[in-house]
Amino acid sequence: MQPVSIGLLGLGTVGAEVARLVEDRNGPFATRAGREVVLKKVAVRDRLKSRGLALPIDVLSTDPIAVAADPAVDIVVELMGGIEPARTAVLAALEAGKDVVTANKALLAEHGAELFAAARRSGRAVAFEGAVGGGIPIINTIGVGLAANRFKAMAAILNGTCNFILSSMARSGLSYAEALRQAQRLGYAEADPTLDVDGTDTAHKLAILAQLAFGASVTTSMIPKQGIDTLQSADIQYAAELGYTVKLLAVARDHGDAGLELRVAPRLVRKGSPLAEVSGPDNAIRTVGDPVGSTLISGQGAGAGPTASAVLGDLIDVIVGRAALTARSLALWPEAAPPPRLCSP
Ligand code: NAP
Ligand code: HSE
Repeated sequence: MQPVSIGLLGLGTVGAEVARLVEDRNGPFATRAGREVVLKKVAVRDRLKSRGLALPIDVLSTDPIAVAADPAVDIVVELMGGIEPARTAVLAALEAGKDVVTANKALLAEHGAELFAAARRSGRAVAFEGAVGGGIPIINTIGVGLAANRFKAMAAILNGTCNFILSSMARSGLSYAEALRQAQRLGYAEADPTLDVDGTDTAHKLAILAQLAFGASVTTSMIPKQGIDTLQSADIQYAAELGYTVKLLAVARDHGDAGLELRVAPRLVRKGSPLAEVSGPDNAIRTVGDPVGSTLISGQGAGAGPTASAVLGDLIDVIVGRAALTARSLALWPEAAPPPRLCSP
């Protein structure tokens, strides 16, 4: 059987880990993919950057759109981040009849409708487990495992950088600035960390989960948001003295005929409750659905290893043909969907 050829767009924190694991011919990824997988082309901004990876220089390209459309590439894995050129590259891949794996929540939150319309036209899949919750399989949990439920409510910690900053400030007494620098050093933060700390990244992820759980086609600007960038150390200390911990929460609640409430804001969570105990770069998602009742899933929500785990899980699904089936049954971002009715608490 012919090897599967991957066009990898981005070789940063996540892309480099994905490349390393794809190149490990004896690991679980190779076994479960069931076919030889080769990195045919890899798009980067700087071909000469030293990366500690044994990739031949002629595999590297500075043209992600050309890589995505390259007839020698079977599947495109987009890990560049941002809107452009990621959007054009993903559309080029779909139009050329290729499945796409991406962890780009900004792109999905803003252009999900356009990308999924293109995927339906070409009969291909866009798999995005790495876009929300890092290593936690929340997309498959809500979209597949809990697919038979009517969701009523969701409360989630969705940004590893913010949770790392808040727990470092509360537990180790680190300053906000030092905790943010550490989150950047550890590879948790976005290329522009403002998106993490001002709540935008959490709103991107909530927009994706709202589409998945409630069928609501919201874009990020429709979600009221407040980040952690205006919090003072004193806020966190006073909360602790009163028996609370501060968490950046994404909240969704179905108010029936009144509409869907969506918001992102720092909230006081009583110490000892499950969400209060989520620390460091971990994320957690609590859902209430009918008939399942309450569920809670947690794990590391940011960083190279957890995100590569999600991306490679998607890649296996694409290679074995599961992703296309899942995409069809999820029917995400349907065309002509009425705008969601949103409401305030
Ligand atoms: P990153 O470290 O900033 O890496 C971005 C990579 O994309 C770099 O290799 C960069 O090339 C390349 N790139 C950027 N713009 C490009 C362009 N115009 N043309 C060609 N190459 C370009 O980002 P990351 O942290 O790995 O994140 C990648 C994606 O995963 C983002 O969508 C992010 O939101 C998402 N994500 C990240 C995490 C995480 O914990 N880091 C978790 C979940 C999801 P150079 O190396 O040459 O600069
Ligand atoms: N910057 C993001 C975070 C990466 O800190 O959660 C994971 O999506």
